[in-house]
Amino acid sequence: MRSRCGSRSPPTSAAPGGVRTDPDRVVVTHGFADLLSLVARALVARGARRAAVEQYGHAAHRAVLAAAGLEVVALPVDDGGADVSLLDALGRERPVDVVLLTPAHQFPTGVPLSPARRGALVAWAARTGATVVEDDYDGELRYDRRAVGALQALDPDHVVYAGTASKALAPGVGLAWGAVPAGLLDDVVAQRRVLGGSPDAIGQLTLARFLADHEYDRAVRRARARYRARRERLATLVAEHLPGGRLLGLPAGLQAVLELPPGTDEDAVVDRAARRGAELLALGAYAVAPGLPGAGAPTTGSPPPSRAPAVVVGYGAPRDHQVEQAFATLLREIDPLSGTSPRRSSRGATGAPPGRGRRSAGSS
Ligand SMILES: Cc1ncc(COP(=O)(O)O)c(C=O)c1O
Repeated sequence: MRSRCGSRSPPTSAAPGGVRTDPDRVVVTHGFADLLSLVARALVARGARRAAVEQYGHAAHRAVLAAAGLEVVALPVDDGGADVSLLDALGRERPVDVVLLTPAHQFPTGVPLSPARRGALVAWAARTGATVVEDDYDGELRYDRRAVGALQALDPDHVVYAGTASKALAPGVGLAWGAVPAGLLDDVVAQRRVLGGSPDAIGQLTLARFLADHEYDRAVRRARARYRARRERLATLVAEHLPGGRLLGLPAGLQAVLELPPGTDEDAVVDRAARRGAELLALGAYAVAPGLPGAGAPTTGSPPPSRAPAVVVGYGAPRDHQVEQAFATLLREIDPLSGTSPRRSSRGATGAPPGRGRRSAGSS
């Protein structure tokens, strides 16, 4: 299970931001959840009992931690990312042994972890001996070119860096990789033996060739250009047609949070869009209440008064010719629920036929 992806360190685009590791410490798994499961089980076998996650994230990842035997608590997320200053307070009640974070581009809100919090987090991990899992699911897909350094580079002994092929290539590739601290490596490998099922060698060798031939880098560059144009188009359409709405988060990745005009029912927007074939989720579907066991049911229903209604718009899946139509459908379904009067142009998001006006003036 250890790296079969060649005898050199992961190439830049597959491990951006100066990850500090060597090939023997790169563990290749069936996607990120598999890596998370191995790391969590290895830590539980050593006595770990509690994991902290971000208030927003995938329920499946919280479930993986819970299935490994960890109690899951949630850290609130604000404009600076997860509030890691609460780890000390949580720890007084019961130690936190593992923290799962998306520091470069919080999923799904899109905010980066602030520099002060990055420093505080690694200092806390070094002080307490806890392990941080850095889920860098879309690190290659920054559009403003200001890539953030990997958290792992600040403390390779306490941070597991996790990358995946799912966003930059496709989820179907089914491969992720982790740069595992030297002191944890044997225990993670031992968990693979217990659970069985190493990723098949042919898939790994194919990816290794893809990397060695620089095809991975080329695919990332193409993906970056395509998704940046989609995001810019969405931003333009929102500015033109949805007064009171705004896109949040960094220009990066394959999803954006669309804050809806005040008073809009986010669940109703999701239902209406689904009836028109546009899939999206309310921000509340990704949330758990901070400070409480986080593996439970999401906080669906009305958003808490502390935040505006919002939906998470994924723009990676549609084919190029479907994108304009998908955005138009979404904005059309929000209009009647928002209580605002959309500014309509004679040929805009709410009326444009598929394929028209695909690139905004700001696209590059
Ligand atoms: C937040 C987050 N982490 C990790 C992943 C990657 O998961 P996997 O490698 O299991 O496809 C995804 C999905 O692509 C994701 O949204």
